[in-house]
Amino acid sequence: MENTDVHRKCTILQSEALQEYILETSAYPREHEQLKEIREVTIQKYGFRSTMLVPADEGQFLSMLLKIINPKKTLELGVFTGYSLLATALALPDDGKGGGEHGMELFDFAFVDADKPNYIHYHERLMKLVKIGGVIAYDNTLWHGSVAVDEEEAPEIFRDGRRAIMDLNTYLASDLRIEMSQISIGDGITLCRRIR
Ligand SMILES: C[S@@+](CC[C@H](N)C(=O)[O-])C[C@H]1O[C@@H](n2cnc3c(N)ncnc32)[C@H](O)[C@@H]1O
Repeated sequence: MENTDVHRKCTILQSEALQEYILETSAYPREHEQLKEIREVTIQKYGFRSTMLVPADEGQFLSMLLKIINPKKTLELGVFTGYSLLATALALPDDGKGGGEHGMELFDFAFVDADKPNYIHYHERLMKLVKIGGVIAYDNTLWHGSVAVDEEEAPEIFRDGRRAIMDLNTYLASDLRIEMSQISIGDGITLCRRIR
């Protein structure tokens, strides 16, 4: 398998050819040079583990979303080699700030792509750290499609994450403090907008 093929094969779409079409036609030609470099170096260094990076089409979606939100302050949980963090940084306005603590000012946007069993804890923390009207995006909320099959049908390596993500999805759907939307891109992102 070619290095870049690992990314094409990790798709929740039923057709790998369709994922390839999306990446080749819309995402790779528009991918920022430095993002491309991070992706290539991560593939070389980490092989299959590089599939932890958000795919290029999801990076493009995050970038578009951020430009629409125009956040002043963003937070990311789960950085790895920094692909999604750089995609965020490149989309921030000139006076935007990403990353660490900046006093008591609340965040406008948070991207969560870390340890799945802790997502519900992170959600509770983020409901205090993200301002009303702010957006939290949870990555991997379709967990390789395993959320839609019985546990015994899911590959064993996905099972712990599958349970954690299914619990999160149910939790978010019943949380009246947010509006939410499940987006079927990458491995699934759930967008939550804090309303109270
Ligand atoms: C899926 S990768 C993130 C990929 C990244 N968002 C990207 O697209 O470039 C998950 C990362 O979360 C980190 N991680 C896992 N548990 C964590 C924790 N409790 N706190 C902070 N980072 C954590 C892992 O070490 C790994 O670097």
